[in-house]
Amino acid sequence: VIHPDSKAGSRFAASEIAALIRQKQAAGENCVLGLATGSTPISMYAELVRMHREEGLSFRNVITFNLDEYYPIDKDAFQSYWSFMHRHLFNHVDIDPANINIPDSNWKKEEIKKYCAEYDAKIQAVGGIDLQVLGIGNNGHIGFNEPGSSIFSTTRLVNLDNSTRIANAYEFQHISKVPRLAITMGISTIMKAKRILLMAWGMKSAIVAKSVEGNITEQIPASILQQHNDCTFIIDEPAAAEL
Ligand code: GLP
Repeated sequence: VIHPDSKAGSRFAASEIAALIRQKQAAGENCVLGLATGSTPISMYAELVRMHREEGLSFRNVITFNLDEYYPIDKDAFQSYWSFMHRHLFNHVDIDPANINIPDSNWKKEEIKKYCAEYDAKIQAVGGIDLQVLGIGNNGHIGFNEPGSSIFSTTRLVNLDNSTRIANAYEFQHISKVPRLAITMGISTIMKAKRILLMAWGMKSAIVAKSVEGNITEQIPASILQQHNDCTFIIDEPAAAEL
């Protein structure tokens, strides 16, 4: 779906999410959302907050699972994805804090494997993700699944590519402060979501074209989404330039 600009695309993504939340509410069911961070979804979260304030959109039936988190990082650090999500969404809506799940970076390395398996199990225990929101890295990463991530990968501890650390350095005082590791949902965790919305704005045209029209390859993790039954790329005109 190509929109003239990121504002229109963000409004569209938010309206799709709000419609699902309301549909589930009407059926007396929970709505399980997989959520992403990065600069891309910020205006979509702002639109959801506006809909909560002005249109009575309630998050009481919403359960969330975030894609990823740096490792290690202090939860309260400005750069943590925990802080990001609270700053941009959770602090401003009526979600039950018990329904918020964000990979927890406080586990010791030897405990991480068990914790990650529990994270995946928890997603399945609430019925799986109804709708997964994604951004895309310039190297095609989704979550922090860097090129080469297996289609069978589940939630796990990963090394960040140097290009990703450079791309995300703006959030930190210096590149040396960007963590080298992260916890991320795996490709198979993401592919199990019933519906996927990937957003991309601006300078992402090359990687969007490769992901949508190129070969399906683990070297471009987002290209694997071509095999999903219900995945929509929501992009703006500049991001569509090479399609
Ligand atoms: C980050 C996040 C991803 C995000 C991507 C793109 O590192 N881990 O979930 O989609 O990189 O970020 P941005 O939206 O800032 O371009």
